Amino acid sequence: MLKIGIINGPNLNMLGKRNQKVYGDLTLKEINHKIRSFAEKEGIELIIMQSNFEGEIIEFIQQSSSKLNGLVINPAAYTHYSYAIADALRDCRIPVVEVHLSNIFSREDFRGKSVTASACIGQIAGFGYQSYILAICALRELLEKKPKKIK
Ligand code: DQA
Repeated sequence: MLKIGIINGPNLNMLGKRNQKVYGDLTLKEINHKIRSFAEKEGIELIIMQSNFEGEIIEFIQQSSSKLNGLVINPAAYTHYSYAIADALRDCRIPVVEVHLSNIFSREDFRGKSVTASACIGQIAGFGYQSYILAICALRELLEKKPKKIK
């Protein structure tokens, strides 16, 4: 069974209350429920985390290569400046897809730059919670072509 980690960065725990015009009204719990239901139907196991702390995200990434087949990350605001998360992603040896709920390119200028995307196989932005589902599909396609054995 494929095991995929889902990482959510700072302030995503506030979804549902935070800037609903941009992020919609779903809470993170509701989004997680939707992506878990999809993954269950597809026979994919998800390990989902959210943290407001850069170091916690980095530790999760560092531990993921021995436990997971791939990662989906929404680094939230860290997208735009965390070279530390970008380095951890580069070193993690499993494929990573970056996702965003909003279309970061159609917003403020600073959001149009991602320092983490170049450490990923690709980026999906602008599809709300479906960005996560599209990322899981992309990872599954890639990993089924090239399965990686995990303990
Ligand atoms: C976000 C976009 C980021 O610019 C922002 O800081 C977030 C959410 C998104 O999912 O659209 O917190 O990553």
